[in-house]
Amino acid sequence: MAHLPFVKNFEQFDFSFQPSIDERQIRELRSLRFIHEASNVIFLGPPGVGKTHLSVALAEAAIRAGLGAYFITAHDLATDLGRAYREGRLDRRMRIYLAPKVLVIDEVGYLPLDDLGTTIFFQLVSARYERGSIILTSNKSYGEWGSIFGDPIIATAILDRLLHHSTTINIRGESYRLKDRRKAGLVPPREQERAAASHSLASASVAPKTRQKAALGSTASEAKEAHT
Ligand SMILES: Nc1ncnc2c1ncn2[C@@H]1O[C@H](COP(=O)(O)OP(=O)(O)OP(=O)(O)O)[C@@H](O)[C@H]1O
Ligand SMILES: [Mg+2]
Repeated sequence: MAHLPFVKNFEQFDFSFQPSIDERQIRELRSLRFIHEASNVIFLGPPGVGKTHLSVALAEAAIRAGLGAYFITAHDLATDLGRAYREGRLDRRMRIYLAPKVLVIDEVGYLPLDDLGTTIFFQLVSARYERGSIILTSNKSYGEWGSIFGDPIIATAILDRLLHHSTTINIRGESYRLKDRRKAGLVPPREQERAAASHSLASASVAPKTRQKAALGSTASEAKEAHT
């Protein structure tokens, strides 16, 4: 079981929307050579820029090529293995995350890990090092990883192993989710944004309503995402 959160492939990804992505790099990854070399792929960037989409697309390609892949968020991983540790079955449970050729660890950095979560994360990265690929997504740059793991020394040790054989895709740009909200008219078009900001005093009274609408739009599109 791959546990992919949604079905997304490369054909559904609009590269023109995200020009910071080097398509050559993506083409190389799609060859799946990195999996045969047990090398890692790290997608870094702000919310909504396609980190999970591209991770899922790579995992799907791996599965289609007959290579095992497993998807989990960093938070769920730490929760699951933390429970296994407390119940004295960490080694057995760890095998689930060591067996597949590709392990996708999504959303590293949104929620900080506690000491146990950090220790387990380190163990997992060490155990997969040069044996199996990790595809990881994070909203935090490497320099900020100390705050995820609560300890700069462990963060450095994790990064050392993770990055030794790896490709980092740094995505800078606007959220695709925001683009959908713009289309629905819930967020002003880009060119009007600056003008709106300069009239912030005049618009102060309507701002809360706009925000509320945008938030509703976000919830709706995210709910839709969850069901696609
Ligand atoms: N360039 C793109 N072309 C087509 N769809 C995209 C593109 N970028 C993102 N999407 C879509 O937008 C939604 C958000 O993308 P995704 O979940 O990959 O974001 P993310 O970078 O993982 O964000 P977060 O950090 O908030 O998890 C998804 O439905 C995804 O399929
Ligand atoms: Mg994501």
